[in-house]
This record gives sequence, structure tokens and C-alpha cells, in this order.
Amino acid sequence: MVGRARGGPARDGGDRAVALIELTPGPEQGRTLLRTLEACNAARTVVAEEARARGAAGAVALQRRLYRALRDEYGLPAQLAVRVISTVASDFRRARGAPPRYAPHEPFPFDERTASFKGLEEVSLLTLDGRARVGIRVAGYAPGGAGRAPGQADLRYEGGRFSLIVALSQPAARADGAGTGRAGGGAIPAANDNDEERARDTRAEGSEAMTVVAQPATAGRARLGRPVAPTIAVVNRKGGSGKSTTTINLAGALAERGLAVLIVDLDGQASLTRLLLPEEPVPEGYAIGSRLQHPGKGLADLARPAFPGVHVVPGDTTIDQAGRALSGNAAAMLRLRGLLAGLEPGRYDAILLDTPPDLGFSTTSALLSADLALIPTMVAQPDLDALADVLLHQEEQVLAGGASRLLIVPNNLRHDGHDRRQLPALREAYGAIVAEPIPMGAPVKDAHALGQPVVRVVRRAPVADAYRALACRVLEEVSDVG
Ligand SMILES: Nc1ncnc2c1ncn2[C@@H]1O[C@H](COP(=O)(O)OP(=O)(O)O)[C@@H](O)[C@H]1O
Ligand SMILES: [Mg+2]
Repeated sequence: MVGRARGGPARDGGDRAVALIELTPGPEQGRTLLRTLEACNAARTVVAEEARARGAAGAVALQRRLYRALRDEYGLPAQLAVRVISTVASDFRRARGAPPRYAPHEPFPFDERTASFKGLEEVSLLTLDGRARVGIRVAGYAPGGAGRAPGQADLRYEGGRFSLIVALSQPAARADGAGTGRAGGGAIPAANDNDEERARDTRAEGSEAMTVVAQPATAGRARLGRPVAPTIAVVNRKGGSGKSTTTINLAGALAERGLAVLIVDLDGQASLTRLLLPEEPVPEGYAIGSRLQHPGKGLADLARPAFPGVHVVPGDTTIDQAGRALSGNAAAMLRLRGLLAGLEPGRYDAILLDTPPDLGFSTTSALLSADLALIPTMVAQPDLDALADVLLHQEEQVLAGGASRLLIVPNNLRHDGHDRRQLPALREAYGAIVAEPIPMGAPVKDAHALGQPVVRVVRRAPVADAYRALACRVLEEVSDVG
């Protein structure tokens, strides 16, 4: 699973440890790794060139221009293409605009989407030829983890040998020789457990785990507080991908388990609100947008009961007005988070944020408030291509302290061969962050018509069970959120 520490590279003391992990690829694997490293660096050079030429390195803009080329000309799998662009963008930021240079064998920073440890013996690395399971041997520990981004594992090629440098979450003194800084199979103690915003360690999911650098909260974020319950942002810039449907049905499955759920409809088109609260107009001053413009009034009195266990803060066009009125005020994107932090503690067990089909004010606010980003997607090729944008945007919000975990939910899966065949490709590209799919199910629409989630209408349908399984997975993902 993806469990990234919050925030960007560690900014505190330089005493974190890195694990030096030797790779033991066979000859064929070695050639694949080398071609992959060279392709990534050639691609990074092209991206850096483009950023220099444009005088800007916004990852989203770069991605729009270059993603296709990186896929087609360098043969990069989707996640590596995304990784190439985001690493160049952040190198640019760090170098304050001086174009970074990438030698053919420059170490390449894999993250937990592109590399995952399989126990203590193997690492699965995304390559030009798909995922390769490569043998590993922990060679030792050293200081030097400071400045490494959470979840980062640098692939190095030196003297004909491959190694990974993996940032650990504890000081060198403790990791050194103690054998606790393991590269898989379990969480590594956070260095700074008692921060108000705890640094998150990777939790093991099966044997899937990645060591990460613990990230202490910045003073600003600690003051801002965090939502009173685990918060899940349901996002995808594609309309019709199933955001609102997933939100309603996930809420239903969570409520079935006895949890109190709050849904906040952040889509100005308010389709979720129209489904769940059909007849209730929102009086002036009680709209979500007005509370974002005047956050002092809080959010609590906006929530209305929808079905047992679930309340909804209705959406309407005021949220778009708020987005326009506050544009230019970057900090305003943190207001939603502040409002969710101001709710009564213990009132809700989970908060779900439904968002519009874009990556604007609402979606960014949602990602900055959330612990987990849930991305429902259909699995046709254009849908999968569009995912890359969303992932980049999420990654950027992580750097600002936003949702650090990610779950892709293949949605509306037809039984035909095409959709089934696409699934392995999605797993190939994104690995363990792909959840079990939600099938296309007639009961979904029947339930919609009744303003209900499937689990309350057709309890025994396969699609109802799929939402139950999703609820289970989501709870696992946020189980350590305080
Ligand atoms: N698993 C599913 N089975 C059947 N229909 C679905 C499923 N998921 C979504 N839909 C339908 O697809 C349409 C778009 O879904 P919606 O949730 O409104 O997308 P979004 O909120 O991303 O725009 C809706 O008509 C919805 O009923
Ligand atoms: Mg919607």
C-alpha cells in the first residue's frame, strides 16, 4: 500500500539513516534495469529542456505537453512517465529555476508507486518491460537521509552494479546495525511520533511496504489542525468516472458497519446532493460556498441527514463563487481543512468529499484536507491516460501537506473481455494502489433513483459486496489516522 509520510523532503536534522540495498539482478534483468535507468534519464533531460525553454516547470503543464511523448518515444510505463515529470519539476523548484542536468546513469528516485519491497528478499521495480522482481541484499546503513523525499528509493548504477538507497525513518545511530530499519514487511517507528500531525510510516499490506522518511509537522500545519475524522477525497478530473456514485455507495457501506459518515458535496453541480436530498433548497448563508468565504461560522449546522448513519453538507454553485472570489488567495484552499477540523470531535467516524470533474479550487481544497485520495476510474484507454493528470495533481498536494495516500478504484467494469483485459494493465502501471474493481451494476442506478446506496436497496448484489470490500480497504488505508 501507499503510506507516505506527509509533506516533502525532510527538512529537519541530517541524522536520518539510509539503507544501502544491493540488487542482485540476473543478466537479463540487469539489462532491463540499465535500459530503464537510461530511458528515465533521457526522458528527464527532455523534460528539463522543455521546462527551461518555457521558463516554468509546473508539473501539470509539463505533463500535458510531454506525457504522450515519454510514453511513446521512450517506452516509459505510465507511472514512470509521471515520476520522470514530477521529479524534474521538483528538481527545478529546488534549483530555483536553474535547469537540472541528468547524466545517463544519474540515480533515479523511485517512489512507492514504482518500487515496492516484497519482504526482505525482493524488490519489485517498474521497468520498460513491466514490473521486475529483483533480489536484494541489505548492505548496510549510513547517515544521509535528510533531503530525501518520503518513499524515495534511488536506483544507482555504479561499477556495473545496481543498488537502491532507501531513506529510513529513524536516526542513523539507531538504525545502524540494529537491523530494525528493514526495507519491507513492516512499519518502521516514526522518529517523531508525538507530533500533533503524526508523521506517517508505511504500514505493511501483505508484504507490500516501503520505508519512508518520517516528516515532522510544520508549525503552521499543526496550528491549522486536521479534520476530526479520517477524510477521503474522491477525485478525478473526468466527469462520469463515478465520483458521486462511489461517494454515496462507500458512505452506505461504511454506515452499514455502524460508522457515522459525513459527506461534503464540493461539486458546484451538486449531483450528489440532488440524489440524496432532492427536495431541500439551501437557504442563503447556509451554503458551503458562503462558509468557505466566511469560515468563522463553521460547518456543523449545514449537515443534513440523508439516510441512516450518513449526513450530507449540500453542494451548490456558491462553491464555484467562493473559488472565484478567493482565487489569488492560495491559503484559501486550506479553509475547507480548517472547517473540517472545527467540527465536533467524535461526531463523525469518516468524512467523504465529493468533488467536481476538474482540478480546481474544490478538488485542491479536498486533497489538502484528506488523508486518502480515492480515484474512481473507468478502464478504457482514454480514462487511464487521463489518470496521469490527477496523479500529478495529487502528488503536488502531498508536497503541500495533503492526502498522502492514494487508491485507484476501477469502476463500472463491464463483464466483457475488454474491461477485464484492461485491469492487468492498470495493475501493471500502478501496482498495489489499485483496489478491487466495482462492477457495472444495474442496482446502482435503481438505488440512485431511490436516493439510496446499493447496500440499502439490494443487499445481496455483487456490486453491493464490491462496495463493502471497498469500505474495508479504505478503512485499512486510514486505520492509523488519529
Ligand atoms: N458501478 C456502476 N454501475 C453502474 N452505473 C454506474 C456505476 N458507477 C457509476 N455509474 C453511473 O455512471 C454515471 C456517472 O457516475 P457519477 O458518479 O455521476 O460520475 P461523476 O461523479 O464522476 O461525474 C451515473 O449515471 C452513474 O449512475
Ligand atoms: Mg459527480
